[in-house]
Amino acid sequence: MTSSLDLPSIIGHRGSAGLAPENTLAGIRRAYEEGATWVEFDVKLTSDDVPILMHDDRLSRTTNGKGKVAAMTLNELQSLDAGAWFGSEFTGERVPTLHATLELCIGLGLGMNVELKPCPGREEETARITLQMIAEMWSDRLSLPPPLISSFDEKALTAAYDISPALPRGCLVTRVPRVWQKKMARFGCRTLNVSNRWIRKKHVESAREAGVPVLVYTVNDPDRALALLDMGVTAIFTDRVDLMRKALGRTR
Ligand code: G3P
Ligand code: MG
Repeated sequence: MTSSLDLPSIIGHRGSAGLAPENTLAGIRRAYEEGATWVEFDVKLTSDDVPILMHDDRLSRTTNGKGKVAAMTLNELQSLDAGAWFGSEFTGERVPTLHATLELCIGLGLGMNVELKPCPGREEETARITLQMIAEMWSDRLSLPPPLISSFDEKALTAAYDISPALPRGCLVTRVPRVWQKKMARFGCRTLNVSNRWIRKKHVESAREAGVPVLVYTVNDPDRALALLDMGVTAIFTDRVDLMRKALGRTR
């Protein structure tokens, strides 16, 4: 499995969450159509241990269901509509499995940031099952760069490191910890993924000195994106791939 990181300056956030329902195949296709070369999405487990794409622990914001994602089997989850809440043209969109998502991204040649977003109590299993699937799918596709794995959750990130040490990992934080290099080393991370709200020039400078790419989420204002990239940020996660491509596409 190769571990080369070839990061672009724009990464579609949750697919392309400002243009299509987040964490759906339609959203990933839309990101691709708008010119993204990488996408980020969130992975958690169903009650019957199938990795699927979803941000929230509860169903109500992004589907027509109610209750906890962790309590749903894959069949139950896939009977829900995950698109109509965003716009009637997306009616019928389903919660995608990680397997279908990886197949789509591989088919389109999209790079991926797989964010482990475990439901409470399911941290290790989410990492184990997700990483196993990635390893299986990559075993006969050695030429494709593998996904960047990240998580806010330290248990999930530890498990990811133990299971697939060769896969690149991103240290995903809201604010940059004072001892960020220690934290990166603890999880064997290659990138520092930080909130737009809390990133500062001094962080970018010290990361650059250490040769660590900084990735910033979530940036939907093209001027802000330009300023961050000028500061030395490597990539921004955006819900609006269209606006970013227009603003940055020709020069970066
Ligand atoms: O991985 C970057 C970003 O997706 C982290 O925040 O809440 O959108 O998953 P969130
Ligand atoms: Mg995310």
